Amino acid sequence: MLEVTYYGHSCVAATDGTHRIIIDPFITGNPQANLKASDVKVDFILVTHGHGDHLGDAVEIAKRNKATIIAPNELAIYVSKQGAQAHNMHIGGSHVFPFGRVKLTIAHHGSAAGDGLVYTGNPCGFLVTIGGKTIYHSGDTGLFYDMKLIGEMNPIDIAFLPIGDNFTMGIEDAVKAVEFLRPKKVTPMHYKTWPVIDTEPTEFASKLKGTGSEVIIMKPGQSITV
Ligand code: NI
Ligand code: MN
Repeated sequence: MLEVTYYGHSCVAATDGTHRIIIDPFITGNPQANLKASDVKVDFILVTHGHGDHLGDAVEIAKRNKATIIAPNELAIYVSKQGAQAHNMHIGGSHVFPFGRVKLTIAHHGSAAGDGLVYTGNPCGFLVTIGGKTIYHSGDTGLFYDMKLIGEMNPIDIAFLPIGDNFTMGIEDAVKAVEFLRPKKVTPMHYKTWPVIDTEPTEFASKLKGTGSEVIIMKPGQSITV
């Protein structure tokens, strides 16, 4: 059993009924989020890169919940220095946690924290297996052809892909990403948070009509069972 909840932008929570995880917990300052960071109860926090709209409230949530942050090495070191417990990983590596397996994938983007100039290594995406299902959360990225390999090697039950353009893939490239990944379900993310990423998820959905991938446009706060 897997229940996923979308909190707007790139923030996704998942639970198998026992374990609770959250990915890219940008809540404070996220105009789409309809919960408070102080209400988040999780065991693990996965962070794709150091940008404020992804690292977000991760350190505060980790400290309060005594939860572990899973992140690429340099970002894990950064959050450790802020007093959070971290599990350092890197691209291509996987590890089995109490909730399931996490594998880090490449992402074509940047990664910096603090004032935006503290280098936090390479950004990543996550393949997460929890509740017997596999989630692919690409993080912020441009389109890359290795998504075809990710799709071939992993049966993806639900993919979260950015469609907002400007900083990440736009709709046209995200549609191509879905062709490569062939997920059963796909949920667009990283759009409409600010005017510069104001793309239409319905356009993304209509371009994928008739493909084997079901587009699920999730409203912030909405949960679905996968
Ligand atoms: Ni970013
Ligand atoms: Mn971002």
